[in-house]
Amino acid sequence: MELLKQRIMQDGIAMGDSVLKVDSFLNHQIDVALFNEMGKEFKRRFADANITKILTVEASGIAVACIAAQYFGNVPVVFAKKQEASNLSADVYASNVFSFTKNRNYTVRVDKKYLSATDRVLIIDDFLANGNAALGLIDLVQQSGGTVTGIGIVIEKGFQTGRKLLEEKGYRVESLAIVQEIHDGTVILAD
Ligand code: G4P
Repeated sequence: MELLKQRIMQDGIAMGDSVLKVDSFLNHQIDVALFNEMGKEFKRRFADANITKILTVEASGIAVACIAAQYFGNVPVVFAKKQEASNLSADVYASNVFSFTKNRNYTVRVDKKYLSATDRVLIIDDFLANGNAALGLIDLVQQSGGTVTGIGIVIEKGFQTGRKLLEEKGYRVESLAIVQEIHDGTVILAD
């Protein structure tokens, strides 16, 4: 997606050789006009998927998913919770995720009320690195008996293993921008 690629080149900051900081429009401050264009693009790419629900994970995925949902006929957005909370029912689907970036395990949980066997689910997230967060979300959908129709990502780090892992399992991955390499403070995007 050209607009997003331009924005990454303009405002993205390379941190070391593997992390792209995009706080100014995606992960902290949010550019709503850009998010609208991203939502339209997700709809264009998954127009044939007949989705009934979007699933994401807190925190940064929520805004992307909510804006995208408006282009899919306002399907409900469910976000997996990472923290155990007193207001979360005990009747949950849960899956363990290992974060390489943070070098720790966490559990994603969704109340069983919000995923069902008739759901056709589009998973949306801001970043794809090694794919572990996406695998955790896929696991939640599988536990519910629902169908994962695809995985929509804003920025994929093409030099990490996420896409390979997900495609090997038969999932369709659509990324709006792919970072090929981060090197010496420079971000190189795929065409
Ligand atoms: P994986 O799920 O693909 O295996 O990735 P990983 O565990 O390594 O990523 C952990 C967190 O770091 C995720 O956010 C992910 O979106 C984010 N992340 C990974 N690589 C980058 C990067 O290069 N730049 C930025 N800005 N984020 C990256 P999270 O822990 O779920 O945080 P949040 O959604 O609460 O912000």
